[in-house]
Amino acid sequence: MRCFSALLLSAFVFSAPGFAQEAADAVAPETATQGQVKALTEEVIAALEAKLDGVPVTSENWMVAAANPLAVEAGAKVLRAGGSAADAMVAVQVVLGLVEPQSSGLGGGAFLVWYDAATGRMTTLDGRETAPQAAKPRLFQDEQGEPLKFFDAVVGGLSVGTPGTPALLEEAHRRWGRSSWPGLFADGIRLADEGFLVSPRLASLVENDAERLSRFPETAAYFLPGGELLQQGQRLTNPAYANTLRVLASDGAAGFYGGEIAADIVRTVRNAPGNPGVLSGIDLALYQVIEREPVCAEYRAYEVCGMGPPSSGALTVGQILGMLNNYDLAAMGAESAEAWRLIGDASRLAFADRGRYMADSDFVPMPTKGLVDPDYLAQRAALLNTEAALAEIAPGQPEFDHALNWADDVSLEFPSTSHISIVDSYGNVLSMTTTIENGFGSRLMTNGFLLNNELTDFSFKTHSDGVPIANRLEPGKRPRSSMSPTIVMQDGAPVLAIGSPGGSRIIGYVAKSIIAWADWDMDVQQALSLPHLVNRFGTYDVEAGTAAEGFTDALVLQGFEVSPRDLTSGLHAIEIGEGLSGGADPRREGIALGE
Ligand code: GLY
Repeated sequence: MRCFSALLLSAFVFSAPGFAQEAADAVAPETATQGQVKALTEEVIAALEAKLDGVPVTSENWMVAAANPLAVEAGAKVLRAGGSAADAMVAVQVVLGLVEPQSSGLGGGAFLVWYDAATGRMTTLDGRETAPQAAKPRLFQDEQGEPLKFFDAVVGGLSVGTPGTPALLEEAHRRWGRSSWPGLFADGIRLADEGFLVSPRLASLVENDAERLSRFPETAAYFLPGGELLQQGQRLTNPAYANTLRVLASDGAAGFYGGEIAADIVRTVRNAPGNPGVLSGIDLALYQVIEREPVCAEYRAYEVCGMGPPSSGALTVGQILGMLNNYDLAAMGAESAEAWRLIGDASRLAFADRGRYMADSDFVPMPTKGLVDPDYLAQRAALLNTEAALAEIAPGQPEFDHALNWADDVSLEFPSTSHISIVDSYGNVLSMTTTIENGFGSRLMTNGFLLNNELTDFSFKTHSDGVPIANRLEPGKRPRSSMSPTIVMQDGAPVLAIGSPGGSRIIGYVAKSIIAWADWDMDVQQALSLPHLVNRFGTYDVEAGTAAEGFTDALVLQGFEVSPRDLTSGLHAIEIGEGLSGGADPRREGIALGE
């Protein structure tokens, strides 16, 4: 294990100098003549260095880990002043919506898992985007009933669901906030007014997406000002976003779901050139955050808890781990091809169930408990008791309240999204994954933020051979997600908060990191940095340019089809033990900070 881990980590350390320089440049001071942007603080530099050295950041009282140092600093400020994890999350999210606008923001949705120290209870809040009332099940089919091409559906108004993030921020603050609401917007407003330095990641994503971003005037004006690509290190202001934050700060979420901002959202969606959508003012006015029971699965000495339907996250992570609970991965170690065979095929089995059964359970009956029942998972795990990759994978038959006949889902999910983990000084733990779906969402922008394309997380097909697909689009329904904000419990106490972006690969990233941490004795940073091998019921994807590629021959021999590729997770995790220990994904620009 040691040898493999060292190799794996060295792959990142090898590339670290360039990355570190880029990460530092992203938030470095501007030249003296421009010097309005504050310098990298020593604690941010230390956190970046810790990540790249592969060691966790430690603290005693509180910690926040997220995808951009400016957002993390905004959260740290709130926590340092005695705010709760919910308060800090609001500050982090509003800054992420500015500095990492392609991944999450006010125009999107999120799932939040909360452990409440005072009551010892865990709960989850569903702030998922919702299909407009006027959306028809065949929204993403052409006149012949054929599914649209993915980006024809994504770009424009058709894909925009009712945003949930502003309502979720307000609801989390209403339940668990300690700080004054308006103050939580101060850093976001300041950075939007004064400007922030465009990060390397944002600049390169704008370059890769320039054609789509240039289709809509408001979006083009922001990301390609004067027709020129945004450049890394360029100072970017967003006065429209600052104004939106001022409205939220003074009027709360009502200022977003009604009034001028709501009218602008509707106008933008309905007038999208070439691809108008159907979102209405009524959809916005009716939006509700939904509290749901967490879904938990047993793994070793732990309970791994997260977001249930409409997310497939906790169920699929829970299924993978629940099956592997029947095998001694610790004895095999991280260098064992046999361990990766088991992980790969447990994932394939879990994804088969996901495709068949998982959707918004407010609209379709789901065997939610049956899917993570240890007896059911032991039966599924018995299928893994072979020496080669499974030749046939089919969904199982979890216990249902009543019989139903579903067809398999057909939907595409591309990596995007962002994850925030926070522990506050009161012992509350928050794990929230937040998204506008595809990078830059629908590419429609209004009032300084991008609108989501979350409706493309529904299956484009409604039926297969006359049998309905659980995740088909219906008015008012929430699209199935892969987001897996997770809190791991031991003996009734939280021990790990974790989650990641990455489309449906989120599930594999989170499951792998929990295995590395729980079975292979890796600390939280090592577990995140460990190169990825993920299987979503297709090719076995191994992280290109890392030691994960060294498993290719063994996996091919076992019968897997192997595909090396970039696997840009954005894991952020905090381990809760004697103190706090945080990790940030070296594949992205985030950090963990604590005191
Ligand atoms: N759109 C990403 C997810 O919800 O899984």
